[in-house]
Amino acid sequence: PLVSMKEMLEKAKQEKYAVGQFNINNLEYTQAILLAAQEEKSPVILGVSEGAAKYIGGFKLIVLMVQELMNEYKITVPVAIHLDHGSSFEKCVQAMYAGFTSVMIDGSHYPLAENIALTKRVVDVAHSLGISVEAELGRIAGQEDDLVVTELEKAYAIPAECEQLIRATGVDCFAPALGSVHGPYKGKPQLGFDRMQEIKDLTNVPLVLHGGSGIPLEDIQNAISLGTAKINVNTENQIVSTKRVREVLEQKPDVYDTRKFMGPARDAIKETVIGKMREFGSSNKA
Ligand code: G3H
Ligand code: ZN
Repeated sequence: PLVSMKEMLEKAKQEKYAVGQFNINNLEYTQAILLAAQEEKSPVILGVSEGAAKYIGGFKLIVLMVQELMNEYKITVPVAIHLDHGSSFEKCVQAMYAGFTSVMIDGSHYPLAENIALTKRVVDVAHSLGISVEAELGRIAGQEDDLVVTELEKAYAIPAECEQLIRATGVDCFAPALGSVHGPYKGKPQLGFDRMQEIKDLTNVPLVLHGGSGIPLEDIQNAISLGTAKINVNTENQIVSTKRVREVLEQKPDVYDTRKFMGPARDAIKETVIGKMREFGSSNKA
């Protein structure tokens, strides 16, 4: 069923695993991720960036596409459709109106008081509709679609501010920027586990780890033990699917049927998502 992230993440936090948010960029991603979740008996969050929504054809089409694929594939595991890095109150409302079951309001580039006020407005609307909300503090370096944060701009979240935002807004889960990066990592990730521990102790909400592509298993397990219940992955699926397309086209230069390379790309995404679900411990938790 289509559900919010609320129960999914509370259960994950309690039972010490993380639910994957896998971003959908087109039809094949959506197919691959839903099939992976069903096969693994895992809850799943379909992440939709504003850029991806624009590319696909709007929030409404995405909801219809997901609903119809869930019927077609007889999906029984819990699925959330979540706006990733919502940039404004208006965008969040548009996604909710279209049928998204969850939204992120990313006010991380605003001063704390403004971030809190904006997040609270979104929470008030969302909670009246049974929709879950994620917020962010600190700044995650790297690039995702149009969201670019340079090395100079990146910032680790401050635990006391995290506590303040969570208390003031009542968000369902929270993403503290603690050194993770959107896009490929240059060198080993340097995650701020000390602060993660502090935030866990100060607050009680499930934590979210953005930039989940390319994080070593040991760090994943550490993050989960410190209250992380949601891990976002996009880049890794993009890398494996594009690699598969290149391989097919190089091996068979005469191919022109789109399905002959998009099919294998879809398989690559499905395999990768299954691998992540096992690493995150969400397999057989649906
Ligand atoms: O919000 C989406 C994620 O944080 C994705 O990060 O593309 O580095 O896996 P990633
Ligand atoms: Zn992110």
